Amino acid sequence: MDIGFQPAKMIDEAVRAAARGLEGLGEDFDPQVRPADPHFGDFQANGVLPHAKRARANPRALGTALLEALEARGDLPGDRVSFELAGPGFINFRLSPVYLDAWLARFGSEAAFREAAGALRGGQRVVVDFSSPNTAKEMHVGHIRSTVIGEAVSRILDFCGAAVTRDNHLGDWGTQFGMIIWAIKREKFDLDAPGADPVAELERLYKLGNAAYKESAENAGAIRAELVKLQRGDEENLRIWRRISEVSLEAFQKLYDLLGVRFDEVLGESYYRDKVDAVWRELEAEGIAEESEGALVVFHPEHPRFKKQPFIIRKADGASNYATTDLATVADRVKRLAPDEILYIVDARQSDHFEQLFLTVAKWFGKTGRKLPRLRHLSFGTVLGEDGRPIKTKEGGSVKLKDLLREATVRARGVVDEKAPDLPEDERAAIAECVGIGAVQYADLAQNRSSDYVFSWERVLSLEGNTAPYLLYAVARIHSIFRKAGESPADAFAAASPLETERELALARKLIGLPAVLEQTLADYRPHVLCGYLYELAGEFSGFYNAEKVIVDDTAVRARRLRLCARTLAVLETGLHLLGLRTLERM
Ligand code: ARG
Repeated sequence: MDIGFQPAKMIDEAVRAAARGLEGLGEDFDPQVRPADPHFGDFQANGVLPHAKRARANPRALGTALLEALEARGDLPGDRVSFELAGPGFINFRLSPVYLDAWLARFGSEAAFREAAGALRGGQRVVVDFSSPNTAKEMHVGHIRSTVIGEAVSRILDFCGAAVTRDNHLGDWGTQFGMIIWAIKREKFDLDAPGADPVAELERLYKLGNAAYKESAENAGAIRAELVKLQRGDEENLRIWRRISEVSLEAFQKLYDLLGVRFDEVLGESYYRDKVDAVWRELEAEGIAEESEGALVVFHPEHPRFKKQPFIIRKADGASNYATTDLATVADRVKRLAPDEILYIVDARQSDHFEQLFLTVAKWFGKTGRKLPRLRHLSFGTVLGEDGRPIKTKEGGSVKLKDLLREATVRARGVVDEKAPDLPEDERAAIAECVGIGAVQYADLAQNRSSDYVFSWERVLSLEGNTAPYLLYAVARIHSIFRKAGESPADAFAAASPLETERELALARKLIGLPAVLEQTLADYRPHVLCGYLYELAGEFSGFYNAEKVIVDDTAVRARRLRLCARTLAVLETGLHLLGLRTLERM
C-alpha cells in the first residue's frame, strides 16, 4: 500500500477524480477537505454544499452521486478509509487502523517528516525580513517577537521545502549617527576597547549627542556637520560608523546564539544608500511620486486614508528615509533573489508604513514590468507587563532582551535545582539555559501573533499548561521510558501488532495530524497553531500512557506501544525544533 504523508491530499485527489465525470460537479469542484471533529471522522469534505448552492442543485443528491462514484472508482479502498454522507451533504472520512499503522511505520523520524513535508512549499522562494534591530541601541523585549517569530517561520518554511533567505534588515543608517559620532569624538571614546557593555555605552553616547543637539545651535551645527561628512564618505567618520555596526552586531550575535537564530544576509539600511536615487527617478518618471511641500511623496487616491496621508519617500531636506530604503530593498531583493514572497515580521504599529509600501510597489512594478512578489506584513502585538501596559523595568525603562534571557535562565535554574538536585552541576546549568530560554521563546510563539500578551514569569515557566517546560518535560519523559525499557526510539519496531485500543488509536490519529498542522501554520504564518497542536499531542500522550501499560510481556503489544511513544517523541521534537527550541533527553 502506498502511503502518502498527507492523508488529506489523498482524499482530496480521490474526491476530485470522482467528481470529474459527474454532472453538476465536474472539473472545477473544490471538495474542501478539512480535519474533522473526531466524533465524526478524521476529515470532512465540505465542498458539496456551497457548490450545490451556486449551481442551484440539491446538495444531498449531489453528495449521494459523489459517494457512489467514489465507491465505484475505488481510489479509497475500504480497508484504508471509510466514508459516509452526513447532514445536508458533507462527506465524513475515517482512516482505518490499518492505514494509521502503515503511516506510523512509514513516517518515523524528523528526517522522514522533512523529506515528505518538502512537497508542501517545494519550489517557492521566500525572503523573511526579521529581527532587524537598530545598531547602537540595545535589543529590548520588543525585538524578541520579531526575532523568534521570524526564526520559527523561516524554519517551518525551510522544512516544508521553500528556499528561504533570512535577512536582518538592520537600522544602521540615519541622522542618529551624526549625534553618536559627535559624542564619540568629544569623549574621545575608544571603540576598539569598548568595555563590558559596548552597546549600552553607544546608547549613552547617543543620548548625550541628542541632548547636546537640543542644547545649542552651535552643537546642532557641529552634529549636522558630522552627519554630512559621514554621508559624503569621510574616511574617519566612516571608520567610526563601521565600528559602531561591528560592535553592535557582536552584541546582537550573542543573543542570536542563545536563541538559535541565524541569518543568510545582514543587509542593513546602509547597504541601500546608493540605490535610493534610482527609486526617486523611476517613481517620479512613472508619475507615481509627486512633490509636496518640498518633499517627494506618494498618494493613493483609491485608498480612504492614503489619498490624503502621504507616503514620504524623500524628506524636504533631500534626505532618504525608512520608506525610501524599503522601496530600494524590494527592488534589490527582486533583482537578486526573484522571490515568490517577501515576509516582513514587524510590529503592528508599522502597519500603515507597510500598507503604503506595498501599494506603492505594486504600482511601481506594474508600470516597469517587474514581477511582483507577494508582499506580506506579518504584524504582531505588544508584550505587556502584569499591569496590562507595555512591559517596563521597575525603574520604568524598557526591558533589555539580554536581561530577560538571563533572568529566564536564573529562574529556570531554581526549578531544576528543586526538581533534580541529584544531577551534576554542569548538566543542571545546561538544562536551565535550555528550559529558561525555550520558555521565553515558546511563551511568545504560543500566542496568536496578532494579539498583545501579558508576560508573567509564573506562567512562562510553569510545568503545566501550554508552555515550553511542560513540552520539554514530556519529551524527556518519553526518553526516560526508552531508557528504562533498554530500547531506542530509532528502532524499526518490526514486531509491532496492529493498533487496537481506543487510546492507541486516538494518539495515532493525533500524530498523523502533523502535515495538516504544518499547512495550517503556514497558511497565515501563525506559529501558535503548531504550539497548540504540540500541546494537545502531549495531552493525548499522557492519556495513552496513563491508561495503557507500555512495557508488557507480550512483545507484539510492547512493540506497537513503544512505536507510539517513539512517534510521539519524533513529532514533539520536530515541532519544538521548528519553533526554534532545543530539546533535552533528561530533565
Ligand atoms: N529597524 C526597524 C525597527 O527597529 C525594523 C525594520 C523592519 N524591516 C523593514 N524592512 N522595514 O523598527
